[in-house]
Amino acid sequence: MKKLIGLKKLKTAVFISGTGSNLKNLIKYSKLKKSPISINLIVSNTKKAKGLKYSLKYNIEKKIINLNKKIFENQLINFLVNKEIKLICLAGFMKILSKNFIKKFNGKIINIHPSLLPKYKGLNTHEKAIKNKDKYAGCTVHYVNEKLDSGKIILQKKVRIKKNDTPKSLAKKVLKKEHLLYPEAIKKLQANL
Ligand code: GRF
Repeated sequence: MKKLIGLKKLKTAVFISGTGSNLKNLIKYSKLKKSPISINLIVSNTKKAKGLKYSLKYNIEKKIINLNKKIFENQLINFLVNKEIKLICLAGFMKILSKNFIKKFNGKIINIHPSLLPKYKGLNTHEKAIKNKDKYAGCTVHYVNEKLDSGKIILQKKVRIKKNDTPKSLAKKVLKKEHLLYPEAIKKLQANL
């Protein structure tokens, strides 16, 4: 997808497990004329994910998945292929994808993580940044490979940590940056998709 003019938008699935503020933000971005993506599918590993409400609100198909068995994973792979999904955006998705799944969509899965990777992979990133007296926290969009939060970095944004910041206040500030970062990162990588 080198030039957008006259070309169709890239069919994208967003994988969530929770609130879905990044999902909502990506849906809004996808509706812009200049956006290279359309959101065609919302995938969640739990029916309790609050973000699933955006399926109804924006009339986007949703799928609840169970990745505990290989047969279910293969079903999901086939489903995504049949839907011609070309980009998978993980946005607060709390399940680790298998090697097999990642290989199938090699270079087409990206994730947003609330730290300045390679610092603080995994959970509780803001607690760790505050505890270590870091000057900056932030967020990263990166390609997904078989190691947790370790794929090639696409783009990052920094947030200054203030003296009175708590993990909660920092999370709020970083999330705001995430909403700017994810669309920017997609714009940056569109030439490689
Ligand atoms: C975000 O902080 C994201 O970086 C992390 O999980 C959180 C998801 O938030 N991976 P939301 O569900 O998009 O509001």
